[in-house]
Amino acid sequence: MIGVFDSGFGGLTIHEALIRRLPELSFVYLGDHRNAPYGDRSPDEILDFTRRNVDMLLSRGCRLVIIACNTASAVALHNLQCYWLPKAWPGRNILGIIVPTIEAATQVPWAINYPVYPQMYANHSVAVFATQRTVDSRTYPVEINKRCPNVDVVQQACPALAGAIEAGADPGHLRELVQGYVARLLSGMGGREPETAILGCTHYPLVKALFREALPMGVRLLCQPSAVANSLEHYLRRHPEYLEKMPRTPGRRYLTTGDPGAVTARSLGFLGQSITFRGVGRSGGSVLSPVKGVSSLQTSTGHQSP
Ligand code: DGL
Repeated sequence: MIGVFDSGFGGLTIHEALIRRLPELSFVYLGDHRNAPYGDRSPDEILDFTRRNVDMLLSRGCRLVIIACNTASAVALHNLQCYWLPKAWPGRNILGIIVPTIEAATQVPWAINYPVYPQMYANHSVAVFATQRTVDSRTYPVEINKRCPNVDVVQQACPALAGAIEAGADPGHLRELVQGYVARLLSGMGGREPETAILGCTHYPLVKALFREALPMGVRLLCQPSAVANSLEHYLRRHPEYLEKMPRTPGRRYLTTGDPGAVTARSLGFLGQSITFRGVGRSGGSVLSPVKGVSSLQTSTGHQSP
């Protein structure tokens, strides 16, 4: 089984692309609805929640877990891959979603972390809309500029957006939020317009139409879910060991740390189909146990390439 994890509903945008691309495989989705949104939480909290949720998926038989959350990928993934996973779950792996997105944005494989010329998007401006924590990590500008130093990466934090999507806010309010964030980004660009925009939070494709409406015409919207699906397909070709013990009949399971009835009821609006979520062990709470040997101050710049 392949596990897919997000703070809440956003990871379903990735999950859907994965099951379309790899319909023969079994997936289990876990949303940490109890603790969503993650975007304004401290790095230590994000690290701890991510570790607990990934652990839950691995202990349910997943050999590979996709962190379908930019915030957790930016803040927690590198630490967990380096310091926790090899000791706690040898032979299993965790992958994030920022690496495939950087590869798609730069057209450069992750392993090449220096400029190679000629560059397809040499002097472009790239807009990144993301949570506050992802923006603060500077993962997108740092990793894009390593490979494409002349690309201007302009970030815009959208602190209220994931929470509003998660809470099922009405379309008028969501439109107002998206228009406000896009206007703020454009006003900081001094009259220029981005060539490409990255919706660097997996919740945002759920309001992709609102971004399209608010962005100037002609801005290319990079599709993170299909970038992740492409990348996972290639990764599994190189690493068939993660497909061992995969059930013969493809299964889909949906788990939540929140109230399963309420989460199931709200899911209808997200994918246009009813998804039945089952409740699982509560992640987080008032006491957060630290992850041994892990410092949340390290950035994500050492992610493994999928
Ligand atoms: N969907 C997540 C992301 O990609 C997190 C949103 C949140 O929980 O704030 O960043």
